[in-house]
Amino acid sequence: MTDHRPRVLSGIQPTGNIHIGNYLGAIRNWVAGQATKINFFCIVDLHALTVPRDPALLRQQTRSMAALLFACGIDPAQSILFVQSHVRAHAETTWLLNTVTPLGWLQRMTQFKDKSAKQESVLTGLLDYPVLMAMDILLYDADEVPVGDDQKQHVELTRDLAQRFNTIYEQEFFVMPEPVIPTVAARVMGLDDPLKKMSKSSDHIRGHAVPLLEDAKEIERSFKRAVTDSYNEIAFSDDPERAGVNNLLGIYQAITGKSQAEVLADFANARGYGDLKKRVAATVIDAITPIRERHAKLMTDPGELDRLLAMGAEQAAAYAEPKAQQMKEIMGLVVPS
Ligand code: TYM
Repeated sequence: MTDHRPRVLSGIQPTGNIHIGNYLGAIRNWVAGQATKINFFCIVDLHALTVPRDPALLRQQTRSMAALLFACGIDPAQSILFVQSHVRAHAETTWLLNTVTPLGWLQRMTQFKDKSAKQESVLTGLLDYPVLMAMDILLYDADEVPVGDDQKQHVELTRDLAQRFNTIYEQEFFVMPEPVIPTVAARVMGLDDPLKKMSKSSDHIRGHAVPLLEDAKEIERSFKRAVTDSYNEIAFSDDPERAGVNNLLGIYQAITGKSQAEVLADFANARGYGDLKKRVAATVIDAITPIRERHAKLMTDPGELDRLLAMGAEQAAAYAEPKAQQMKEIMGLVVPS
């Protein structure tokens, strides 16, 4: 019998400092949808290599990321969680898709432009990053790609590449994926600079991001130092000058699941921004403390983590390998029988 549930794929880089932006913009939505969909979640270690990494640290962060995703509620009985490099088809088919990808399409990507502007020598892998991401999605015939706002352009490129491949080879081989972006917390901003996206690669993580594995005291300190404004009015606003308060309210709204009106009612009696910051910090700490505790527990059993990842890789490969074989055949390669 064919399974008509929507197919979901998303990915996350195994870098340290996973923060509440990653959680609210992506991971939490993966967890929320998993019971009713077919889910693939990929720890994209090959993507992590597009900037220089310390090998031992990358290995440690890959396991830590798996533990964190399980700690956030990814259920191995409902979702296939795997490490990208464990499923060979990802790297292999990226080469194939490269052969139909116009260079200009990659040079136009805003993330490439931003990241390459910050580096003296730009690696080819960084330019090719979105093609690998496209194959992550296309190998699993994903209908939905739940991501934060910053990944929307990459998913749109994936659609363009799928369309181009289908046109060149004259068949509906790749499924058109849709980006699924949350209405609240699609772009959580830095606490120190609310006009910049909260980012794990920021040079000053302390005070900028709120890492999920940070201890409560440090989180309180970061919120205390959060940049606000001189209006002294607790309100949602599109005004860039009021972006700090808007961001704090957005974080609170995303965590509590309340409407904007309910959020404002909660803060109607707040005594200024100091009180707002304290209460938002407390709400964040309450939400992420159990995650940090579960993560610590899972990290004590690396054997079990590796077992779960091996199971995930096997299940993922069962979908990806046949798709990769078909792609090769369509492109005219001799596929060994
Ligand atoms: P990555 O690892 O940078 O981020 C993981 C997820 O977190 C979201 N995110 C945010 N959401 C809201 N506010 C923020 N400040 C914020 N920062 C990050 C991201 O949008 C993302 O959903 N290229 C991807 C990984 C990837 C992928 C894929 C995603 C590789 N293959 C296939 C989807 C499908 C990335 O670097 O995400």
